[in-house]
Amino acid sequence: MELTADEERILNGGSGPAEELAMRILVNLGELEGADSLIRIVSAHISGVSYKTGGEGLIKMLERFHDDGGKVSVPSSLNPAGMDLDLWGKMGIDPAFAKKQGRIIKLYGSLGVETTCTCIPYELFSKLHPVGMGDHIAWGESNAVIYANSMLGARTNREGSISCLASAIVGRTPNYGMHLDEKRLPTIEVSVSGEMSALDHDLLGAHIGVNFNSGIPLIKGLKGPELPDLKHMGAAMAAKGGLALYHVEGVTPESRICDPASFENNIDDRVTISSEDLSAVKEELYPTIDGEIDTYVIGCPQLGKGEFQRLYRSIKGKRLLPGKRILAFTSRDLLNSLDVELVKGVEKAGVEIYRDTCMVVSPLDMMGMSRAGTDSGKAAHYLPRMSRISTELMPIEMIIENAAEPR
Ligand code: F3S
Repeated sequence: MELTADEERILNGGSGPAEELAMRILVNLGELEGADSLIRIVSAHISGVSYKTGGEGLIKMLERFHDDGGKVSVPSSLNPAGMDLDLWGKMGIDPAFAKKQGRIIKLYGSLGVETTCTCIPYELFSKLHPVGMGDHIAWGESNAVIYANSMLGARTNREGSISCLASAIVGRTPNYGMHLDEKRLPTIEVSVSGEMSALDHDLLGAHIGVNFNSGIPLIKGLKGPELPDLKHMGAAMAAKGGLALYHVEGVTPESRICDPASFENNIDDRVTISSEDLSAVKEELYPTIDGEIDTYVIGCPQLGKGEFQRLYRSIKGKRLLPGKRILAFTSRDLLNSLDVELVKGVEKAGVEIYRDTCMVVSPLDMMGMSRAGTDSGKAAHYLPRMSRISTELMPIEMIIENAAEPR
């Protein structure tokens, strides 16, 4: 890989040990992936925050960067932590876990990272960092990566927690994969027929993720998808497969400005998916579970404004049934930006709202939960695997019907 004189200087320790280590990580990654050079980035989003998933190894890595004087050099935000940073007691989090989690957040803050604890940085640009078409960025968190590439036209690979922190520190990333024009062209055309419910977008994403794991889909026939639908579709696609980019005809920016021939000529497979096919996907990938469900978890990806409005419309005038819980996860900044009446209306129904975290990266299993319902294809994928929680996927309307009654 060809480095500039400045990059060689950093690699040889000329900017101190933290930058040297970060540069070493990126050069090793770039050589492994066949990158020709490093490129400048305008933003980093760092995953690997929860003590549940990162453990002592994460603390040790952050301490090393901290002790070596590391600082991020581009606007950098942080993925969800393992708990609500204020309401962790109400969540039932063990104080020992909370102490470790607090240490991780403090260490990230000492490196200059905005301790946002959100997986929807793309909904918070005014406060965080603006990212636009063609910008090179280094983001971790697969739902944010696929959203940034697809909906914003920005360019990032699916970074791991170490590589995105290294990129944040030296302001560069290896030039390969999603950073290259030719790697962003669609390889499979997916035509959708019929009306799509909100949940169908999760199922479509999961189906594409499982069946076209290494492809780039061009989706045709989606009728006016809203932001929450696209968030859920991308999150399920990236959870079930290794995808980092999709195009939706007439919706995503690169599909709108592309040379149609360049898209068409690159496609080597074409499939059609009907609503009956999606019902079969539900049966196959998200079967119903045995036993009574008392707890429902929503907000994967974390709830944005659109999902809050949908939730409010569904639960207005209702209250939770005795013994039922709905846990909703969102970002602190997003929550603060919402209409107070909207938030109060959701809370009045009995929904527990937590910030800074989510159902997957918080230790819900250690808090006694063994079964859950969710409206998220991504959460339904990860909860059984990461937390041994049997999970049933269902539309938000069914969650409200099962858990609430008219007030
Ligand atoms: Fe976000 Fe947690 Fe889901 S980080 S995408 S809410 S697994």
